[in-house]
Amino acid sequence: MNEIDVRRAAPQDVTGPRVYIFDTTLRDGEQSPGATLTAEEKLVVADALVDLGVDIMEAGFPAASPGDFEAVRAIAGRAKGIVVAGLARCNQSDIERAAQAVRGAESPRIHTFIATSDIHLRHKLRMTRSEVLERVEAMVRLAKSFTSDVEFSAEDATRTDWDFLVEVFGRAIAAGATTLNVPDTVGYTTPVEYAALMEHLRANVPGIDQAVISVHCHDDLGMSTANTLAAVKAGARQVEVTVNGIGERAGNTSLEEVVMALATRGDQFGPGETRIRKERLVPTSRLVSMLTGLVVQPNKAIVGDNAFAHEAGIHQDGMLKERTTYEIMNPTDVGWEGTRLVLGKHSGRAGFRNALDEMGIRLADDQLHEAYERFTALADRKKTVTGADLAALVSDQLQSGGEPLQLVRWSASIGSGGAATASVIVNRDGGEVAADGQGNGAVNALLQAIDNAVGIPCDLEEYTVEAVTPGEDAQGQVRLRVRTPDGVFTGHGLATDVVEASARAYLAALSRVVQKQPTPVIAGPVSAVSRWT
Ligand code: KIV
Ligand code: ZN
Repeated sequence: MNEIDVRRAAPQDVTGPRVYIFDTTLRDGEQSPGATLTAEEKLVVADALVDLGVDIMEAGFPAASPGDFEAVRAIAGRAKGIVVAGLARCNQSDIERAAQAVRGAESPRIHTFIATSDIHLRHKLRMTRSEVLERVEAMVRLAKSFTSDVEFSAEDATRTDWDFLVEVFGRAIAAGATTLNVPDTVGYTTPVEYAALMEHLRANVPGIDQAVISVHCHDDLGMSTANTLAAVKAGARQVEVTVNGIGERAGNTSLEEVVMALATRGDQFGPGETRIRKERLVPTSRLVSMLTGLVVQPNKAIVGDNAFAHEAGIHQDGMLKERTTYEIMNPTDVGWEGTRLVLGKHSGRAGFRNALDEMGIRLADDQLHEAYERFTALADRKKTVTGADLAALVSDQLQSGGEPLQLVRWSASIGSGGAATASVIVNRDGGEVAADGQGNGAVNALLQAIDNAVGIPCDLEEYTVEAVTPGEDAQGQVRLRVRTPDGVFTGHGLATDVVEASARAYLAALSRVVQKQPTPVIAGPVSAVSRWT
């Protein structure tokens, strides 16, 4: 059996020591407020996840928007050696949409879900339990008519009556579901309760031994990793996780925490084998953080800046004598070593490509060419170019491809005691518009000038500026979030001057506002979908 066959066959192995990593960074993770990724950014993340070694990638929710549909379709056609899943509510058009989106994948999966708790049935779905049972059976059957690999999720399972849950999963299995997911949608359960639920399901759902039991936890009470691991101990074989734990509200279970807990405490959770390349954990975390704009807290397990930092003298003393006195994992095993990577103006194209490769960033030839040009320009201004500089540079490039609003020129003047003034020229869809602004400081004045030039009403909700690396020649990275009647949009900007970085970030966010208009990219009515397995 070759590598791909092994991976294809793997999700059917329901009793073995393997724990399948189902990554939902691009679906539940991307639902984090303000984390929206561009199409190109999604492809870069998808490539990095393949490199990381996830088994199943949930690429998106195709029915959510034409952009989501296209992203899932593009990822399905590109991500090799893994299962690509598309999410669908339990209704015909969502399932047909998901089927269309994932059909180009080597191993396609349709992941369909419906809420099962009384609270959701009464207030959200306005359906009876028997209507839900019928819907589950019919829609899993429909999904099954497109692909043999069908996952069914009972949304809000942990607040669902256990006997009803048994009935729901029984119907899903009878209709052909191969993976049963038990989501703790609102982060309500506890490790002991969740493990007991796994045991109850395993003992009572007819045919459950033929399916993979999956768990999907949210972190509202800070227990998502503990709950996930308790479920693995109780027999779950698929874990749904995101890089850095990003996701709805308090986030999803963090991929790196589960993988390293399984690797470090196999004695507690059974062998818990995964295919994750652990040395890719830190680079992938950095990439996702950079592209989503969601900063990793310094004390975050495994991937936070302080995860392996030792401050107390007594700890440092112990570390100098023997690393394992205070470290239960080796930082190099999870990829910290690679983050020391340094390039300079004498680094050639091959070294540059290799550095990107090590960071899990795969670019098409034309993108690579542009990134190299940007790198050499930066290396002229900055003595050493680090991994963080490179990630920022690539993320800036991916964001700025084809944006409708581009910064052409700007100036600002400020002195003590008076308001700042600024002028800007913005290219909007090929034509230049100029405007002036006044404000409380150079950044405020320049953003005001941009408002006057483009006339898009919005509120600036969040603004952060940080130096990408230490040192006087550091690049300034600005991330910001604006709210408009159409929703929340984020942008990031990079420049050696923070005023310019601010303008770039603002125009990037406003470009996303402009691009929000739906693009009619889907050919043909959904009823014309053909069965393809
Ligand atoms: O949290 C949840 O219940 C979900 C489902 C769609 C699996 O994300
Ligand atoms: Zn979720």
